[in-house]
This record gives sequence, C-alpha cells and structure tokens, in this order.
Amino acid sequence: MTLGGSKNAALPVIISSLLTAGKCSYGRVPALRDVSTTLRLLSRLGVTIEKDTMGGGCLELTADRVSQVEAPYDLVKTMRASFLVLGPLLARFGEARVSTPGGCAIGSRPVNIHLQGLERMGARICQDHGYIDARAGELRGAIIPLDFPSVGATENLMMAATLARGETIIQNAAREPEIVELAGVLNKMGGKVNGAGGDVIQIEGVGELHGMSHEMSLDRIETGTFMVGAALTGGSVMIEGAWAEDLEAFIVKLRQAGVRVEEGSDGVRVTGNGRTCSTDIATLPYPGFPTDLQAQMMVLMAVSDGTSVITENIFENRFMHAQELNRMGARIALDGNRATVQGVAELSGAPVMATDLRASMSLVLAGLVARGVTEVSRVYHLDRGYENIEGKLAGLGADIRRVSCDD
Ligand code: EPU
Repeated sequence: MTLGGSKNAALPVIISSLLTAGKCSYGRVPALRDVSTTLRLLSRLGVTIEKDTMGGGCLELTADRVSQVEAPYDLVKTMRASFLVLGPLLARFGEARVSTPGGCAIGSRPVNIHLQGLERMGARICQDHGYIDARAGELRGAIIPLDFPSVGATENLMMAATLARGETIIQNAAREPEIVELAGVLNKMGGKVNGAGGDVIQIEGVGELHGMSHEMSLDRIETGTFMVGAALTGGSVMIEGAWAEDLEAFIVKLRQAGVRVEEGSDGVRVTGNGRTCSTDIATLPYPGFPTDLQAQMMVLMAVSDGTSVITENIFENRFMHAQELNRMGARIALDGNRATVQGVAELSGAPVMATDLRASMSLVLAGLVARGVTEVSRVYHLDRGYENIEGKLAGLGADIRRVSCDD
C-alpha cells in the first residue's frame, strides 16, 4: 500500500511559509481536513494559495501580502496546530493575535511553554478575551530551556528564532522526525538551524528568508496504523517507502507481541503471525513509543494472549477509546493514566463513537477483526488525519464502507 504525506510534518511546514514573502512550493501534501483548515487560516491572513499547480498534492503559498495577524477562535478551536502561526507572525510582523486553543478530547493541552519561550525572546504577551496578544519590536535570540519537550512549542520557537536577532538555543527540545523536517525546510529558506533531532537546537537569526520547495515525508503514524492492521488481521502488508527507523520503539513492541516486521530498502513488510501476545507499553516523547499509536496498539493488546499495562505519559485523557472498545467486548480497566488490557478471544461488532483522530482509527481497526458489523460514528475525526482511509483499507481486502458524513 502507498502512504500519504505526513500530517504532523505538513502542518508546521505549511505554516512556516508565513516567514517569507517568497514563494514556497510543496509536494505530497496530504488531502486532510487539518490541512484544509490550515489553508483556510493562511488564506484569511492574506497568504496566496495556488493548488495542484504540478499535479495532485502540490501547493504553492506566497505570503507577500499578509493583511492581518489574527488567528480567530473558529479556526484555532477546530485545530490546535493553528496556534503555530504565533511564532512566525510575531517574528516577521512584530505582532500577532491568536486565539487560545482551549482543551480538547485528549487533554487540556496548554500553551504555556510556547509563551514562556517567546517571552524569553523579548515578546510582550497578554491574554485577553480568549486571545493571546503578542508584540515585539524585534525578537532577540535567547537561551530557552523547555519544561517539557513539547513538539508544538519547539516548532513555534524554532520558526520564531529564524528571524530573531542573534542566537537562540532551545534546550530539552522535542526530537520528533517532524522537528527535523521543519528544521530542514527552514534551512532551505535560508535559515540557520542546527541540532534538530537532538535535545539542543541552535538557531542563528537571519534578516530575511526566501522561498523554496519541499516534498513532505511519508506519514509515520499512518505507517504504524497499517502495521497494526496487518498484525490484527493476520495479513501481510508491504508498506511502500515506509521508514522503520522513525518507528523503532513501536516496532520493538510489535515484535515482542509476535508480529513479523521486515525492513527493506523499498519499505516495510508486516505479517500477522497468528495470535499475538501481550506486552506492556508506555508512551514517551520521541524516540519513545508514540502517543499517536497508543490507541491502535490497545486494540491489538485487546485481542492478544495475556494482560498488558498501557501507560499514557503524554496526554492526560487519551483513553476515550477504551470505553468504546469495551462495548465491543474488550476488557480494559482504566486507572488514571494506566489501562490494564486483558486479552479476549474476540471482539464483537457494535455501534461506537469516535472522540478524536487516533481513537476513531482504533475503532475502525477493532471493527476489522470484530465478529459482525461495527458502525463508527463521527468519522469526521478520521478525515483530519487519514487520507481516503476506507479506500486504502478496502484495497487491502477490508469490508468497509463510508455510509454518511455525520457530525
Ligand atoms: N504541553 C504543555 N504546555 C505547552 C505545550 C504542551 O503542558 O505549552 C503539554 C501538552 O498538554 C501535552 C504534552 O505537553 O500533554 C505534549 O504536547 P506537545 O506540545 O508535544 O504536542 P502538540 O504539539 O500539541 C503534536 C502532534 C500530536 C502528537 C503530539 C505528541 C501535531 C500537529 N500534533 O501535538 O498529534 O500527539 O505532538 O507527539 O504535530 C495526532 O496526530 O493525533 C496528534 C494529536
């Protein structure tokens, strides 16, 4: 099967076009709801957007006529990544007004680390009427130790620092592959970013950035999702172009569960090898086990031999799928950030409700192996992060159909 471009790489990369008046061309942009939301926001700010100039998945963005610096509530509330416009707008235009995102289904998700970092760079920030107002005559480089290696804060600060005066050092930075990708893009624009992928990132500010072109990497979370799908159904799936190195901690767990994973130069082949066995899982910042694959892995554990303890260390409320899986016959007990999953012989199909992107995917995966029909409602969550999911699964032999677009 063929993967789409990475959602979590594409969103910050597309937003980084705000840093320059030059034209930024992107390839392999996934057709996802979160990407459309990002484009809507950029368009509202005055960015010129040309689509499909070079064929499917291509975009050209030019931020040479940015007419406003406000990201409104209606767009930030539907997608928290909208908050990433704060750093670029502030760095380039000296001011930004961005709605605070508020909580979401997986946790409270504050933005204090983003704001503390920008303040260290000289921004004056005040919060009023649900908005963050940020001003800075000119941002200046600073040493910024992050309280937690937040992906979004690292991205926001890295983007802001490219146009700040002097050197910025982000300590305890997030190390996710998406950070490395964004740093690569900033450097293509003429930025001077070093150390991305490690926990200290050094950025030397430059006066101006220029346009460039970039093709998004393949989605590693989509890769992991299809790997779980193969493991669950006992199938053998070749995921073309997949890059196992970015999923090492996850693959270790799959192998411990008894799944065959073969890494080759052309992709990764995953073969379900009969009934799997339980293994304990704890989500952690990269290179640890990704929180974005926790829900999917919970389904595999739900039908494995033995008992697995799953600990969610990134988001405080990312177990909403557990109750729905229990309605399908799983035996999952929750205690704070721990789920104890006792494997059962089989799941039974049921009407279930999605609460967030990865949770909805876990319900679809559960439906693939459950006896009878599973009907997942609120599938719009899926469209935020999986491109043509029903088409891709049907192409692999699943009996799946989109009945309606509910909300
Ligand atoms: N946090 C704070 N303060 C902050 C920022 C974060 O306390 O200022 C906390 C959050 O509340 C959370 C933890 O730190 O508990 C991790 O948050 P992080 O900032 O790292 O996550 P994010 O940038 O909001 C991105 C992905 C998520 C992914 C996480 C963790 C994008 C657009 N989103 O979110 O992706 O789960 O990193 O890897 O890149 C998904 O794709 O389903 C998804 C939720």
